[in-house]
Amino acid sequence: MKVGILTGGGDAPGLNIAVYTLTKLLERRHEVYAVLHGWRGILDKEVRKVTSRELLDFAFTGGTYIRTSRTNPFKDEARAEQFAKSIKELGFDVIIAIGGDDTLSAGAQAQVRGLVNVVGIPKTIDNDVYGTDYTIGFDTAVNEAIRVTESFKTTIISHERVGVVEVMGREAGWIALFTGLATMADVVLIPEKPVSWDAVARRVREIYNDKRWALIIVSEGIKEYGGPKDEFGHTRLGGVGNELASYIEKATGLETRAVIPGHIIRGAPPTAFDRVLAVRFATEAYNAIEEGDFGKMVAYRGGEIVRIPISEVLGRNRLVSGYWLKLYETYWGL
Ligand code: F6P
Repeated sequence: MKVGILTGGGDAPGLNIAVYTLTKLLERRHEVYAVLHGWRGILDKEVRKVTSRELLDFAFTGGTYIRTSRTNPFKDEARAEQFAKSIKELGFDVIIAIGGDDTLSAGAQAQVRGLVNVVGIPKTIDNDVYGTDYTIGFDTAVNEAIRVTESFKTTIISHERVGVVEVMGREAGWIALFTGLATMADVVLIPEKPVSWDAVARRVREIYNDKRWALIIVSEGIKEYGGPKDEFGHTRLGGVGNELASYIEKATGLETRAVIPGHIIRGAPPTAFDRVLAVRFATEAYNAIEEGDFGKMVAYRGGEIVRIPISEVLGRNRLVSGYWLKLYETYWGL
């Protein structure tokens, strides 16, 4: 078979391991191509034969060696037509789409429209892909967020200040929640649980009166500032940490500092968990291809690697809810 592998959307630590492992398994019996720059590589017919030997040197780094983009191949009908034409000309038997909800939704559409067989692998530091407990990259991003938070905390304690750490995550509070749990932060704000900043300031005052410092983790997605949208309809987030810090400083009179690690938590070398997850996902995607079981996304559920119809992810994402929201409220309900 002629197999294409692409990575789309924001890069995530562990992507290179998934691409390397897939290539190593597939090249024994199939022709393996990297589709460069995500779905854009199909539209532009930017594909290149790869070998595991070529990929090995970069396999354990962050980022994505085969590049990425936020191109939506179904942005409008003209684009969809161009996509259908290009994919036919390229002659792939199957495309392995490694991405978040946008990239995988595009893959689902390609499958549903009968344009090409697709197998999906979920990745994103946001951990918000529907149908899987974990995505490649999330664990590394959380570990980096913890590292940044702990360093920041030492200076917050020394100066007896209030500290705000803003983390990525888009509309999902997973990174903030896990960072908050792992550092036992005083206040955690996630998009799934809107709260009044007045109540936050009051809580900060109480905490400060007790221990002379306070640490807040805030998810970027608690506030949108508008601006241009990308091809999947997302506006750029970020900056709420600074606004919140000023608000708290004014409301409490306490010296407050904010840090926004931003993309830094996205670029680190993958943790053990993400490495093993990438290998397990790649292996299951390979098995699906060998069995001709197309139109599936591999997923992690309760410790097992399973396959679900990729169409299930179309237009959906996974937010903090159920057990995790209860855990959130146990510590930070206001
Ligand atoms: O989806 C991953 C993510 O890192 C989000 O957490 C964040 O809002 C967004 O990507 C940032 O995108 P970009 O890399 O395009 O600035």
